This record gives sequence, structure tokens and C-alpha cells, in this order.
Amino acid sequence: MKEFICGLPKVELHLHIEGSLEPELMFELAKRNQVAIPYNTPQEVRDAYEFHNLQSFLDIYYQGANVLIHEQDFFDLTWAYLLRCKEDNVLHTEIFFDPQTHTSRGIDFDIVICGIHRALVQAQHELGITSQLIMCFLRHLDEASAFETLEQALLHKDKIIAVGLDSSELGHPPKKFENVFQKALTEGFLTVAHAGEEGPAKNIDDALVLLRTARIDHGVRCVEDEALVGRLIEGKVPLTVCPLSNTKLKVFEDMEQHNVVELLRRGVCVTLNSDDPAYFGGYMNANFLAVANAHPMSKEELAQFTLNAIEASFISESEKLRLQ
Ligand code: HPA
Ligand code: ZN
Repeated sequence: MKEFICGLPKVELHLHIEGSLEPELMFELAKRNQVAIPYNTPQEVRDAYEFHNLQSFLDIYYQGANVLIHEQDFFDLTWAYLLRCKEDNVLHTEIFFDPQTHTSRGIDFDIVICGIHRALVQAQHELGITSQLIMCFLRHLDEASAFETLEQALLHKDKIIAVGLDSSELGHPPKKFENVFQKALTEGFLTVAHAGEEGPAKNIDDALVLLRTARIDHGVRCVEDEALVGRLIEGKVPLTVCPLSNTKLKVFEDMEQHNVVELLRRGVCVTLNSDDPAYFGGYMNANFLAVANAHPMSKEELAQFTLNAIEASFISESEKLRLQ
């Protein structure tokens, strides 16, 4: 099964580029940029990655991003992730970035997006990997900050396919960002949102209705509302599920309790993704393997995750045919 999973072509739809910062690169950039970090070795960094919920992870994740200063740093970060895509046979990836994590530290929006984008263009030429970029608003920050960020993104419309919503879900429901998402839609961006990860099923419904999202990121708490599950199946609404993330952040006690295989078998358009692989212990192959080890599955079922991801992706119909 391992051989089948490694060889299976994959499409990733839920990956935070800042969450792909491996401790070794964090150390290299800290040294290069003379940024102090509260660890002595990459192993010490890894040892600190014990999380009990989403917030305990976010605190460490935002701190890690402090080593990213120059355009070249964002290039190096993105390039390292794309090389891992190549290893895991990921043919297409749709990448989140969090501009506010950087602009709040005085790093220009342009530096962030230009570094990431240069790596994406190079990956298409040198690795044959295609991609899209999704700009996320941090939901713990206010609406005004999101509007400001959207304004900055308008100058880079050609590089950004969609806007999304991440960070602390509890206490920051979709409604808080209804106006800014409306403006993003008017400007021609597609929309997605993290919902139903730690928050209730109602957040999934609100993201679909108020934010007009084309996909739901995580969405695993949909099972708490049977009627909602029916609407997800009927409306072919994709869920970008992140199994290793969910177990590390205690959304599920262990992989045996995870509901992604049950959702797949019920006909929900679920996909497998790595979320923040440097923090949660694995990239795409590791996520597929962890699910398959805990839930015996056929090869057809595993391949269905990729077929779902192709269908759910923001690529043209002709490109979808190429991937199939
Ligand atoms: N949830 C919310 N915000 C995030 C995540 C996540 O899984 N990863 C990075 N930011
Ligand atoms: Zn995420």
C-alpha cells in the first residue's frame, strides 16, 4: 500500500506556506537575518511542537515566521516546499499565505508575494508542478486590517486566485468577514474559509452562505449537523481535510477516530492535505499513509482522494483533464 500511495499522483489544496518552515531552515534564516529564536538546535524546536489545541500551535507558528524578512527568504521557504511536493508526487498545489503575519512586523506585502511567486514560476519550469496562491485573512485581527490587506492584494491580482480565512476559529465566526469577502468577490477573487475545524458546524453553513466559499477548509465537524452533510453531498462542496493536523491539534483523539474515510464513503467530496507539514509531522504521503494505516482502504478509495482534489481545484477544465 505504501508503494501505491507514494506513486499516486496528488493535488494539494490546503497548505500554509509559513507552516512548511522546517526547523533547519528556521535556523539558517535566523542566522542569516540575525533574528534571535528561543531554541539552541533544530531538535529543540521539534521538541517544542507539542500542541493541545489550535491556539497553542498558532502561538508557536507565528513566532517561527519571524525569521522571514527578505524576498529571498520567502523564495527559499516556498522552494523547499515545492521540492517536497516533487518527492511526494504532488503535481499541483494551491498554497495559502498569511500577509498580515508579515506586514504586522513591518515586512512589505510585495516582498512576501514576490518571493513566493518567483518560486512558483520556477517550479512550473523546472519541476513541472503547477500552482495557485490563496491569500488568507487572519480572523483574530479586525475587519479594517483585512480590508487593508485586500487593498494591497489588488496590485497583485494576477498572482492570487482566491482569498481565505484562517487562524483562531473560536470567537471569530465567518460573519465578521462578510463585508470584506463581498468586496473580494466583487473584485473577482474566489473564496474559501477554514470552518468546522474547532468551531461548530454552523460556521461551515455561514462560510458557504455569507462568504460564498467554493470549498471549506477542514470542515470535519460537519457531521454534527446531518442536514448540512446532505447539502455538502448534494452541492458537491469540497472539504480540504488535514488528518495529521487534526490529530496533532486534538480535533480527533487519534487517527482511528478521524471521520475522513466515513465522509468519503458517504459521498462527500473530501480531499487529503498537509496543512502545516513542518509542525504536524508530515507532507502529503505521510497524511495518506496515516489515514490508510488507521482505516483499511482499497486503492480505488485512495485514488478517489486525488480525483476529488482535481475536481475541487481552481484550475481550468482543460488542465483538469491533463491531470486525470
Ligand atoms: N487552522 C487555522 N489557522 C491556521 C491553520 C489551521 O489549521 N494552519 C495555519 N493557520
Ligand atoms: Zn489550515
